[in-house]
Amino acid sequence: MIMITMNNGNGIIRPFVDETFWQYGATSWIEWDMMKDGYRFLLSGPSGSGKTTLAQGLLSRLARHLPRCQIYILDYKNIDFSYLEGAKRYFKHDSSTDGFLEFYDIFETRLSCNATYPWLILYIDEYPSWLLSLPSKVQKEFMLKMARLLNLSRAKQIHICVSCQKPLADLFSSGSRESFSHNVLLQAPSKETVGMLMPNFKDIIETCPTGVGYVTVNDSDLTKIRVPFPKNIDAMHRDLWNAVNR
Ligand SMILES: Nc1ncnc2c1ncn2[C@@H]1O[C@H](COP(=O)(O)OP(=O)(O)OP(=O)(O)O)[C@@H](O)[C@H]1O
Ligand SMILES: [Mg+2]
Repeated sequence: MIMITMNNGNGIIRPFVDETFWQYGATSWIEWDMMKDGYRFLLSGPSGSGKTTLAQGLLSRLARHLPRCQIYILDYKNIDFSYLEGAKRYFKHDSSTDGFLEFYDIFETRLSCNATYPWLILYIDEYPSWLLSLPSKVQKEFMLKMARLLNLSRAKQIHICVSCQKPLADLFSSGSRESFSHNVLLQAPSKETVGMLMPNFKDIIETCPTGVGYVTVNDSDLTKIRVPFPKNIDAMHRDLWNAVNR
């Protein structure tokens, strides 16, 4: 009998390694069970710190290991995800707004009806660039929608991932920045950013190289992490394309 395994399909992903072990020459992968709960990721760090690289690794792992998942990508900057051009759920530049509204409608439908759905993932690259490009009245409306998404989609098989250089509280209405379950800070975050996201650890956090930083889960469990640079970029792009076009 010939068995073909396309992926492990159990929702377990390994997005990065523990930096402390790495410094001692050992590789210890951090493991997350993405079928357990809706995760809310906030990826922060200065320009060039590796946020988008981490996001692509994370999303392509979800594409591989989360059966039948559908991924929405909002790429306001329209540079790093251009290989997704033509895929159904890829929204670049100004069309990011259409992508957000499409995703939001699915979320509201799920909210109104109790059923089991395929996993749905929203990734917004450089959230502030997109949000601040909108007229201020629309910004307010979208921030409220975002707050509702962050607060209520956890049990609806929805993961949300947002990247931004400076996650200012003003960008997340009604204190919804607190709804992120997983905070990642890469490279050399300013004291201001550390104070915003990981105030309990401000005396421990130090400057790191690109692709290295810290993660907290529900504001505790500080872990220093390293994002291994993707080895097979073509495979990563292909996996992501499939889940964005599914
Ligand atoms: N984990 C990593 N290991 C090694 N190099 C990396 C890693 N992540 C990113 N880089 C390098 O750093 C550069 C910047 O990465 P990336 O575009 O992901 O950063 P960013 O934080 O999204 O930047 P921006 O805010 O400008 O969008 C990439 O071109 C890549 O070569
Ligand atoms: Mg980026």
